[in-house]
Amino acid sequence: MAGKNVLVIDADAASLSYVSAALHKAGYQVLRAGSGREGLVAAWRDHPDVIVMDPVTADLKGEDFAVRLRSDARTSKTPLIALSSDPLHSRARACLDAGFKEYLVKTGEAIPVLVEMIGRLTGAPVSAAKDGGLLIVFLSAKGGTGTSSLCANIAMNVAVNQPEARIAVVDMVLPIGSIAEIVGYEGDQNLVMIAEMPSSEMTPDFFRKSLTEMSAWHFHLLAGSPDPESGNQLNVGKIGDIVHSLRLGYDFVFLDLGRSLSRISLPLIENADLVAMIVSTDLSTVTLTKTVWDYLKTKGLQASSVFTILNRAVGLEGLTKAEAEKIIGVDIKTAMPYLGGNFALANNQHQPITTKFPNDTASIVLKDTSRQMAELARHLRSL
Ligand SMILES: Nc1ncnc2c1ncn2[C@@H]1O[C@H](COP(=O)(O)OP(=O)(O)O)[C@@H](O)[C@H]1O
Ligand SMILES: [Mg+2]
Repeated sequence: MAGKNVLVIDADAASLSYVSAALHKAGYQVLRAGSGREGLVAAWRDHPDVIVMDPVTADLKGEDFAVRLRSDARTSKTPLIALSSDPLHSRARACLDAGFKEYLVKTGEAIPVLVEMIGRLTGAPVSAAKDGGLLIVFLSAKGGTGTSSLCANIAMNVAVNQPEARIAVVDMVLPIGSIAEIVGYEGDQNLVMIAEMPSSEMTPDFFRKSLTEMSAWHFHLLAGSPDPESGNQLNVGKIGDIVHSLRLGYDFVFLDLGRSLSRISLPLIENADLVAMIVSTDLSTVTLTKTVWDYLKTKGLQASSVFTILNRAVGLEGLTKAEAEKIIGVDIKTAMPYLGGNFALANNQHQPITTKFPNDTASIVLKDTSRQMAELARHLRSL
């Protein structure tokens, strides 16, 4: 987006400066105009890449502005977005008919949507854009290492630690998910169903309103495939749009990818702010993890954005942290102790470990780890 110019036209001075500041912060060069006429002159003179206008300006209403813009060769193709103080559908229709490309109503959510729209219109590749909420993906080289339990429990601790943050957890493990079972979700909404919706309906607002809040867990859940048959029917082409929109609607999005390294999960791993790699202490999992990590490195994943957790899911025996680090070739950031039956007990009762066994070492480790992960993700984003 470097070097892209956006012209903002708004008769309301406060709104003009607010929108301009937000776009400037998103990396655009911003031109401003306080009236329609002034806007036209600026458009013809400065050739902005995109124009954002409140069509309810006093001197020249948006519909007329659009017609004049369109009929001049210098600006006939410049994308025009309405950021309107008029929520009426009829107004939206009239503006779209006159040549506006999009019609957004001024609400609390309008700015992130606007930024995303401008990115799309100016050709900034969506897949490369780490915008919106922090994306933290969980993966492992083998099943049974505790990936799903840790994903749910770490998301819960991040949520408790930051009550103001909006957190979504998405189960993307195919062919059958397990987070719904862990957190006790009994509804019938799931990823497979959502992926059947038109992308235009998958707005950040839609997700915020329709994903169930799991009260004991303090996050919103998008459950995974309920059975293998559904899992095999997942419309994978929609995953990118779903995750992108979730990121615009939430401050943190946690994805359980399980042990999948596929055409679906790779772009998500590449776009994540942080990758949690879960390893258990047995030699075969550690060896397989090395293979996975070596592969991810060839895809450009940096060691600095990987957070490796050694989870003693299978018991105390097995390799030490140092041995595992040596074999895999990564630093292990956290070692989660073996919790005996407590882990399974908490899972079976659909309760977070920190709530069910607050004094257990694992609870303390979980709290610390969650804090570290959230901080690291935020730090990596700021670089
Ligand atoms: N640190 C641990 N101590 C004891 N049991 C654990 C631990 N981590 C995970 N488990 C148990 O291991 C099993 C597999 O965990 P799960 O999260 O489903 O793994 P994955 O998603 O990697 O297949 C579950 O029964 C879980 O309760
Ligand atoms: Mg799992």
